[in-house]
Amino acid sequence: GDKSVNVFVCMGASGDLAKKKIYPVLWNLYKEDLLPTETRIIGYARTKLSLEELLSRCEPFMKIKDGEKAKYAEFIKINSYVAGNYDKAADFKRLDDAIKEIGSCHRLFYLALPPSVYEPVTLNIKATCMATGDKWTRIIIEKPFGRDLDSSEHLSQHLASLFKEEQLYRIDHYLGKEMVQNLVVLRFGNRILSPIWNRDSVSSIVISFKEPIGTQGRGGYFDEFGIIRDVMQNHLLQLLTLVAMEKPPSTKAEDIRNEKVKVLKSIPPIELKDVVLGQYVGNPDGTPDQREGYLDDPTVPKDSVTPTFVTAAMFVKNERWDGVPFILRCGKALNERKAEVRIQFRDVPGDIFAEGKVKRNELVIRVQPNEAVYMKLMTKTPGMSFNCEETELDLTYHSRYSGVSMPEAYERLILDVFNGSQINFVRSDELYEAWRIFTPLLHKIEKEKIKPIPYIFGSRGPKESDEMSAKYDFKYTGEY
Ligand code: BG6
Repeated sequence: GDKSVNVFVCMGASGDLAKKKIYPVLWNLYKEDLLPTETRIIGYARTKLSLEELLSRCEPFMKIKDGEKAKYAEFIKINSYVAGNYDKAADFKRLDDAIKEIGSCHRLFYLALPPSVYEPVTLNIKATCMATGDKWTRIIIEKPFGRDLDSSEHLSQHLASLFKEEQLYRIDHYLGKEMVQNLVVLRFGNRILSPIWNRDSVSSIVISFKEPIGTQGRGGYFDEFGIIRDVMQNHLLQLLTLVAMEKPPSTKAEDIRNEKVKVLKSIPPIELKDVVLGQYVGNPDGTPDQREGYLDDPTVPKDSVTPTFVTAAMFVKNERWDGVPFILRCGKALNERKAEVRIQFRDVPGDIFAEGKVKRNELVIRVQPNEAVYMKLMTKTPGMSFNCEETELDLTYHSRYSGVSMPEAYERLILDVFNGSQINFVRSDELYEAWRIFTPLLHKIEKEKIKPIPYIFGSRGPKESDEMSAKYDFKYTGEY
């Protein structure tokens, strides 16, 4: 393979994302010998810090075990830190000097930064810090990619004026999750699934994301975006495209991303009538955390109408899916942590069993926690009677693949960037379509200050959400 040195530059090294995610992920990859052998890590941020100070902030999140001290000492040696401003060419010159000291190398820049500094930072990288000769430069960016179609297009055009699309790695960490990647294999590696994967057999598809935690003091940040931008427009929509796309000609990044974009192009903008918005309120009988409603967070404006919960019915207007509701729902401060895709099939035609006995089949792909694929099937109740009952064909990962460790999403994605694989990153046209679908709704909610429905911290969310799913012929099975 390529023996060149790779330099990973973490921009915003003193920030929260770097401390909680990026450095711990780099350390995990390093200790598992997964990083390319010749890798150096440079932290860059405004704060004047020694390398020891920087790393000691990250260490609580790295979970270094007793037996790993020697390895960690080696890890420290591949690290360094440069303090500098985000808008000073001279500081980026010092960063470039630090990279050049290592040698001629490939360069990865991870922008763990607030979006307000994306422009100056990328301008400075382009002007001063690009790799030369046969060495590549790659830029990793995190959402928010703008806050509506216009601002996102502005950012896209800015980035496109500096970098080629193949240099840009837009992270949606859901694409790094094991069960999300499994969707492509399940769908296109199983003959029995392909003939039923369409409007003739599927009655609805529910894609859910639930969290049992509120904003936890991050409300100020959250309030600028809301749950639609935070989770639905990216994570859930990405799941939808993988569930709905046609079979790509190959598993190459461009082939898969082409199919995903086609799905998005077939989705009309969401209308308010197909949406239920919610905002959580404190639960006086709950745990201390649950007693705090969204508006009790001191960093949230008292009159905020920002949704912390949303259910939306979406439609893919193509030959395969026309008329099938894709019900996306996501929320904070709910009763559990869960992310799953639930495909509900149509009723059995010409049912011969006692009325109401036969339930619809469902295929569930549980992304987290406790990864699983299971299929709800009807079987005869074992024993003398001829009753039937619903049961599950169950592929729960921890029993089927016990002992196999599931890589963390960020670990996989960061390795993908080292390897130049863009399969699990969002292309600019996907992003454009995602914003096209959600922008009119977001603008309407904000302009008209549409009031979200209050729901209690620790509940299943507003009952209107279940009512909407029922209206779209989703038969609640008591567990979704
Ligand atoms: C992030 C959102 O993208 O995803 C957070 O900004 C959310 O609000 C998080 O909590 C959920 O990620 P995961 O991997 O814990 O499901």
